[in-house]
Amino acid sequence: MPETITITDNRTGDSIEIPIDQGAADATQWAKLLPGVWFHDPSFGATSAASSSITELDGANGILRYRGYPIEQLAEHSSYLEVAYLLIHGELPTAKEFEAWRYEITHHTFIHENVRKRFMEGFHHDAHPMGILVSTVAALSTFYPGAKDIDDRDVLMKQVVRLIAKMPTLAAGAYRHSVGMPFVYPDNSLDFAANFLSMMWKTAEPRYEANPVLARALDVLFILHADHEQNCSTTAMRTVGSSHADPYISTAAAASALYGPRHGGANEAVIRMLNEIGSIENVAPYVEKVKRGEARLQGFGHRVYKNYDPRAKIIKRTAYEVFEVTGKSPMLDLALALEEVALSDEYFISRKLYPNVDFYSGLIYQAMGFPMDMFTVLFAIPRTAGWLSHYMELLDQGSRIYRPRQVFTGAAERDYVPIVNR
Ligand code: CMC
Repeated sequence: MPETITITDNRTGDSIEIPIDQGAADATQWAKLLPGVWFHDPSFGATSAASSSITELDGANGILRYRGYPIEQLAEHSSYLEVAYLLIHGELPTAKEFEAWRYEITHHTFIHENVRKRFMEGFHHDAHPMGILVSTVAALSTFYPGAKDIDDRDVLMKQVVRLIAKMPTLAAGAYRHSVGMPFVYPDNSLDFAANFLSMMWKTAEPRYEANPVLARALDVLFILHADHEQNCSTTAMRTVGSSHADPYISTAAAASALYGPRHGGANEAVIRMLNEIGSIENVAPYVEKVKRGEARLQGFGHRVYKNYDPRAKIIKRTAYEVFEVTGKSPMLDLALALEEVALSDEYFISRKLYPNVDFYSGLIYQAMGFPMDMFTVLFAIPRTAGWLSHYMELLDQGSRIYRPRQVFTGAAERDYVPIVNR
């Protein structure tokens, strides 16, 4: 059978045959046959917005691979920094390449004093750390005006390193500010996750020693969150990047998209939901409320996964490892009961709604002592590597500026009426 589709314009009888390539039909062919007729797809449910060689996601079969490597293998054997290298460069590093990468990232963790003193300290004490993060990432653009030279590969790579390296520093700084604690400078002798934990929790001790199980668990969560192909924030990154805005401004746009409760804010929403449910006997009534359309089961459902999110499986395992150290979260039983009820209910089965990455991640973060406000920030830190790999890919592809069309549904032409006559 031919791997093509035929579109016929019934107004004219003209037809065009378009090949199906990698599961997609080339829309420029459509445009040739039907100039001025738009493929109307407001939330991109049936649109492939990019070709990409970074992350492969097969939602029907619950498969996720970065540059071909299964997420399960990366979570077990790799580290976030190595995964960041893989996403950015396309290949796993050799030992020598990794050492150079680790050195580079480690030595760009410091932020300009003015970012801390003038920007961070300028925020109100109860400012949401995600708001602080988005704003300070955007502000970095003004500290590195040379970053606008996105055509120079070395200059671009410098910003990539800076962004990956400075995100944890900005994130921890936002937290310390919100609790009135002094800023902790990076400790370059620590690895990525342990350094972040030191900047978060260090008080008077000369050196903060993170619990290795917790540091590893956080690193695994960073690996799982590092990329997820054309999700909402990556689409924001690519959209803003397509205008050739610099990497800091584009990353700030992506982080803004992540902030919403339907995207990176969902792990926070899960904890709020579990708090609202409160006890096991309220699980079934809550599920009924969801089925009546009065609430959403937070941490459930996904635009692409119509199967168990492979990241959720790994996170569930990681949660048990963390609870060995921290003690079991009282909400775990509630979450397990909720999952069990939902997975056996026709409403969720028929809609293929399964737990996603956020269902258990909030429980881990909470057990590790992170306040809820920090959950989305913890997502933004590793996703930075994913966003930047897409930004670089977009530039390499010589992408045109993203500029969709619309179906206009407003008023027809009418004459202006002076205010006194309205
Ligand atoms: N609880 C209850 N019903 C749901 C849920 C949910 N969490 N998600 C989808 N549905 C229902 C929805 O009401 C609709 O039913 P019907 O066909 O009767 O109208 C059907 O399932 C299809 O839903 P949709 O809204 O068309 O799905 P979408 O692809 O537009 O939305 C989603 C995807 C992730 C925004 C949505 O599933 C959701 O709001 N989930 C809760 C928030 C969440 O956990 N977000 C994290 C996503 S994973 C991390 C990330 O990528 O950032």
